[in-house]
Amino acid sequence: MIYFDNAATSYPKPDVVYDEIDRVMRSCGNPGRGSHKMAIESGKYILDARQEICQLFNIKNPMRVIFTLNTTDSLNIALKGFLKSGDHVITSSMEHNSMIRPLMALKDNQGVDLTIVDCDPMGNIDIEDIRKAIKSNTKLIAMIHASNVTGTLLPIREIGRIAREMGIYFLVDAAQTAGNYPIDVEKDNIDMLAFPGHKSLFGPQGTGGLYIRDTIKLKTIKEGGTGSNSEKIYQPGMMPDMLESGTPNTPGIAGLKEGVKFIRNVGIENIRQHEKELTERFIEGVEEIPNIILYGNKDPEKQVGVVSVNIKDIDSGEVSYILDKVYDIATRSGLHCSSLAHKTLGTLKRGTVRFGIGYFNTKDEIDIATKALYTIAKQTL
Ligand code: ALA
Repeated sequence: MIYFDNAATSYPKPDVVYDEIDRVMRSCGNPGRGSHKMAIESGKYILDARQEICQLFNIKNPMRVIFTLNTTDSLNIALKGFLKSGDHVITSSMEHNSMIRPLMALKDNQGVDLTIVDCDPMGNIDIEDIRKAIKSNTKLIAMIHASNVTGTLLPIREIGRIAREMGIYFLVDAAQTAGNYPIDVEKDNIDMLAFPGHKSLFGPQGTGGLYIRDTIKLKTIKEGGTGSNSEKIYQPGMMPDMLESGTPNTPGIAGLKEGVKFIRNVGIENIRQHEKELTERFIEGVEEIPNIILYGNKDPEKQVGVVSVNIKDIDSGEVSYILDKVYDIATRSGLHCSSLAHKTLGTLKRGTVRFGIGYFNTKDEIDIATKALYTIAKQTL
């Protein structure tokens, strides 16, 4: 199988990730709950993971990073913990359902005021439109870093700068960029960063995280056992315990720690460079194919390794099916949980065939995929 579904979840993972999960699974106690050696050792894996993540994103205090189930979980904790009735929030028309659905629920059920800034049909946002959307009650700008449909990068540093100038907090959904594109919460003016563990950070599914700047105190949307302040029947206010109730996924988080270490060893710039080269090769190859429709900027500088295509008017599911069954190539078709983004691109009815390029893909695999698309386009038209 040639795997081009890294935008959904990365495959394979570095061997160190599999090895660490297996090792910790066979030896872990419950971190922060108990004082025996196994529990203490488990607590150390979690702390090491927090520290690795801090190094990657230039976060100063590891206690401001919480572990979650995935980006959706992180965004729910951030949005529902931050926004109150009457607050105004600005988002974009390229958002994944993980952002727009909690925002719509907050709008309908909690009286949160929401503005969706329209992006162009390539997925780009005009930062002046964001500026124009700001109102006296704007409390948060919440946006995706790179689209999971077209890979289009939003200019988060500039958006963050506007937010900072106006005294507005900035939440970034890094589902498609954490681990493959440099992110610096200080330089990028990010106040909350939601990220998945299982995509470009190479952890297992069921892991994710959220960074929360120390000037923000979120309301909890979940309370329970934290292993701390157990004499109290109220949720402790200290971080990260306040937002991390219940036994964590220790083996998964230990695996994630090794994934982040792997990235730091290879170098995030080298990972970005490799994925950029593959993306460029794929775009150049696909552009040559008659009757192919390529979405987004078609420019590897302005996108990550996520590329959506269609072949004339053939259903995206059919093309993806042929790629899988005939060519043993894994892609994702349809709407990618992002109807808002597909509406922006004009592909809401048919969806797209999405290639999610990852660090372990090779030039040869790109060429095989291009050739397969060429053959399908030729045979079906
Ligand atoms: N959000 C993931 C995707 O885009 C699952 O496929």
